[in-house]
Amino acid sequence: MVKAVIAGASGGIGQPLSLLMKLCPLVDELSLYDVVNTPGVAADLSHISSTAKITGYLPKDDGGKAAMKDADIIIIPAGIPRCYPTGKPGMTRDDLFKINAGIVKGLIEIAAEVAPKAFILVISNPVNSTVPIAAEVLKAKGVFNAQKLFGVTTLDIVRAETFVAEIAGKKTGSELTVPVIGGHSGETIVPLFSQIAPSGITIPDDKYDALVNRVQFGGDEVVKAKDGAGSATLSMAYAGYRFAEKLLKAVKGEKGLVEPSFVYLPGVPGGKEIAEKTGCDFFSVPIELGPNGAEKATNVLGNITEKEKKLLEACTAGLKDNITKGVTFAHNPP
Ligand code: NAI
Repeated sequence: MVKAVIAGASGGIGQPLSLLMKLCPLVDELSLYDVVNTPGVAADLSHISSTAKITGYLPKDDGGKAAMKDADIIIIPAGIPRCYPTGKPGMTRDDLFKINAGIVKGLIEIAAEVAPKAFILVISNPVNSTVPIAAEVLKAKGVFNAQKLFGVTTLDIVRAETFVAEIAGKKTGSELTVPVIGGHSGETIVPLFSQIAPSGITIPDDKYDALVNRVQFGGDEVVKAKDGAGSATLSMAYAGYRFAEKLLKAVKGEKGLVEPSFVYLPGVPGGKEIAEKTGCDFFSVPIELGPNGAEKATNVLGNITEKEKKLLEACTAGLKDNITKGVTFAHNPP
């Protein structure tokens, strides 16, 4: 029996993600938690004739604990985005820190208490800082397992795959994969176009910089197009679902499932040398998923190009600060 929780289930990402999880045959029980509207979202989804049993909780009567109790997987898109209604246009992911840091900390504290063995997937931005916060909270509660904590960077991979397919004239879909490593914010996002699979696709020099920029700042395209009314929600729900589904399949024993994710490298097999090389303990690389969660971090840094080395330098410079900010907040919240 698999119990999945979505914390922030009534939001722009939360609702379509809840729909996708409700349709997932790998989920037996789906528990929705938010500070507003979860009874309505749960009632709506409960009329869908898929197998997952659905419940909705609000904070009253310790609803957070009831929602997360004994969960196997907790997905967290709770917090304000870079747009209306809660965020403001022009905000960066880092601007979100002040509010989202506390929200994530609070949710992880509940998870640590009532679902200490759950896989935790953090979507709330800035992921570069909220995942270190989550790790520190779990460490302080004595239940940290690096193989079970994931920052969801899948949207960067999804964008890279889509944009590369457009340039290469290929069909989008599962036909190609593009590793995207580093963090999940602007220059910390490093697409490795030299490692597109299947091999044979080369990004022309005159298109390289624009493509890198589009992957790093793809979220801004959506913010602009929605004209103040939202940031990426539908594509993010898809990306979050893609990662969660892969993880659930891997836990059930399916082999060969790999997806980049932002993890605490020293706690994941194969991760220590990547952490030493980059100077970042939290970093996204392709992760082989399995019954324990993150079974192996893949070192893709061995044969990167000169251009990619430069991107990596810019990435680690910013990422280190983001990580420190998260760790510091977890130990000394205002
Ligand atoms: P939204 O404002 O539409 O939804 C957020 C939801 O969180 C709201 O329903 C709100 O009531 C809920 N919430 C707030 N505090 C809560 C708490 N303490 N407990 C439970 N729920 C709480 O925002 P949206 O667009 O869904 O974005 C959510 C987050 O995801 C933002 O931080 C955004 O920046 C981030 N995001 C991450 C991406 C990624 O690639 N990792 C991509 C796009 C957005």
